[in-house]
Amino acid sequence: MSKTYKIAVLPGDGTGPEVLREGLKVAQVAAQKFGFKLDLTQFDFGGERFLKTGEVLPDSASRDLKQFDAIYLGAIGHPDVKPGILEKGILLRLRFELDQYINLRPVKLFPGVECPLKDKGPEHIDFVVIRENSGGIYTGMGGATMVGTQNEVATQVMAYSRPVVDRCLKYAFDYTKQRNRKNMLTLVHKTNVLTYCGDLWWRAFNEMGDQPEYRTIKRDYNHVDAATMWFVKQPEFYDVIVTENLFGDIITDLAAIIQGGLGIAAGGNINPEGVSMFEPMGGSAPKYTGKNVINPLAAISAGGMMLDVLGEKSAAQAIEKAIMDVTKNKVKSLAAGRMGYSTTEVGDLVAERV
Ligand code: IPM
Ligand code: MN
Repeated sequence: MSKTYKIAVLPGDGTGPEVLREGLKVAQVAAQKFGFKLDLTQFDFGGERFLKTGEVLPDSASRDLKQFDAIYLGAIGHPDVKPGILEKGILLRLRFELDQYINLRPVKLFPGVECPLKDKGPEHIDFVVIRENSGGIYTGMGGATMVGTQNEVATQVMAYSRPVVDRCLKYAFDYTKQRNRKNMLTLVHKTNVLTYCGDLWWRAFNEMGDQPEYRTIKRDYNHVDAATMWFVKQPEFYDVIVTENLFGDIITDLAAIIQGGLGIAAGGNINPEGVSMFEPMGGSAPKYTGKNVINPLAAISAGGMMLDVLGEKSAAQAIEKAIMDVTKNKVKSLAAGRMGYSTTEVGDLVAERV
């Protein structure tokens, strides 16, 4: 009997459904070739549903989604819905309720992809950012007083408990060891100013790094402002980076652009003990919706990452190799409308190479 994975499919808004369609096409080809099955169930969460029903996410959503092996998400964001409502109400709420405490962002420049950095090629850009995905400023602690007056005060608290830091660091050390490339883990923070949170991360990082099982991992540290400089000047220095939530949010956008932009960047919201959610980093791109011109490679890549985390390593590798062949030899650009192929054709090109 071949293995069957239950996948919750959340196409979402805008071009989300188009890119996910191609991602699923490729994943299904890989499933057939590598001898497993994907059992898909669609959910309609997103802007359209909210505008029709007034409900952002039903309370049953996370309970239902916990029954799946993985979640595959297209895009969230609708031009007729005030910014923040869907992001907070769907994406962030699912991350929290499903305790997806790792945001995994591989940063790899594929051959043929244009890099905005001078004199940098695929041999220079191949690292992974592990962003803590459940704590920090994203917990929503804080408040405001005298709102609307001249003396208005607002706070937004960066809150971290030791267990939340430790579980993220453990994932990062294990990941670095398994990746076995340079065996170097860089902590990114701002210990010179954030003397409480930075100190907590710093001590936890070193205490864990001193454990016998992690002795082979070289430890490195960057302040977050300096890291943005090094991303541009010397990205080849990095292997794996671990950082807190907001710093991770910011540096992964910078990382996305040096790997060719949102058309190629994929991310995983991982709960190592539960159900994880995989998504292309590009948004819903409303102006391209339904035109079959958007680039599906990020979604295809997110699908590959999903198979990897599910344990189908060979399938994931085959998908990555197929994408690299397409970026190297086929698509002219990653930009919507300038690929030289339609969304469907790019999906076909990858699928036939898997
Ligand atoms: C991301 C996004 C989200 C975040 C937004 C949409 C809430 O920017 O996944 O990086 O800030 O985490
Ligand atoms: Mn972001």
